[in-house]
Amino acid sequence: MASYLVTGIAGFIGSAVARALLAQGHRVVGVDNLTTGFRENIPAEAEFYEAACQDARLYAEILPREPYAAIFHIAGQSSGEISFDDPVYDLRTNAESTLHLLKFALAVGCGRILYASSMSVYGDQPDKPVREDAPAFPRSFYGVGKLASEHYLRLYEQYGVRSTALRLFNVYGPGQNMSNLRQGMVSIYMAMMLDKGDIHVKGNPDRYRDFVYIDDVVRAFLLCLDHPESAGCAINIGGSGRVTVGELTAALRALHDAPCSVRYAGCTPGDMHGIYADMSLAAEVLGYVPQTSLSEGLKRMYAWASGRCAK
Ligand SMILES: NC(=O)c1ccc[n+]([C@@H]2O[C@H](COP(=O)([O-])OP(=O)(O)OC[C@H]3O[C@@H](n4cnc5c(N)ncnc54)[C@H](O)[C@@H]3O)[C@@H](O)[C@H]2O)c1
Repeated sequence: MASYLVTGIAGFIGSAVARALLAQGHRVVGVDNLTTGFRENIPAEAEFYEAACQDARLYAEILPREPYAAIFHIAGQSSGEISFDDPVYDLRTNAESTLHLLKFALAVGCGRILYASSMSVYGDQPDKPVREDAPAFPRSFYGVGKLASEHYLRLYEQYGVRSTALRLFNVYGPGQNMSNLRQGMVSIYMAMMLDKGDIHVKGNPDRYRDFVYIDDVVRAFLLCLDHPESAGCAINIGGSGRVTVGELTAALRALHDAPCSVRYAGCTPGDMHGIYADMSLAAEVLGYVPQTSLSEGLKRMYAWASGRCAK
């Protein structure tokens, strides 16, 4: 049994990673400030501390100081759109948190950090699978903070804190926050379809994304533990390949047995036109190949979300 620290444990991805670690018999210490996460997401077997990762007191006074086998740094403000509301807050909650965690890892003798980075680091890219060595020009404050965090990880490599940044594409699946209509393309559209029978898309239907199912993301995080050679890398984690917004809304409507309209109006600040992952590095370094197709993943998420709405 090993001890792991998971930040963002009350959120969609952090809680799923924590559950997987607990299922393997490990001890999990979790941190979350409950800004977008929910207390009920936190697995009962985890040791939980309510605090913000940018708060120095967390490291000095609150967290058990022990050489965790690894830190999964998953906490963060997770919306590009919201990062425009208060860029200074975004910097603190995302990038400053990463620096604190790195310093803490070094102080307690933890030599491994796995970081939830984002495809948002890339900014606009040509219409072909984006490789990790593509120039990164983020279009949102959120993307800038994720890229800064990746560079902080890189700098701490010289002190022996080995890190892997997973550049997650659009993650979706059961457990996603269905009430936050500013984060998560699949969850936003599915929530609108279930609530009102009307999907409001900000932007045009030709935009495209790469949708990755939550179980695949959890597997990618765990694979980092088995593959120490992934240290020092930023690695794309995609799932569906290139899927347009029009194709996504059509797939969602096909699952729904009631009428649903789709309106295209407005746009989102910092939005990229289109992006999808080149997955060669993930396959080579982690042996990661996504296992859940978009149609299967949407079906599972729809079953979960419609069950919640019916309650
Ligand atoms: N969901 C996606 O499509 C996606 C894609 C790329 C990257 N990511 C990254 O993955 C991570 C998790 O995203 P998610 O979809 O689970 O979002 P989420 O909002 O469900 O989870 C984030 C969790 O972190 C907590 N949190 C936020 N700021 C914090 C802070 N400063 N200190 C402590 N806790 C804090 C929130 O309360 C929440 O529980 C984020 O860092 C996000 O940027 C997500």
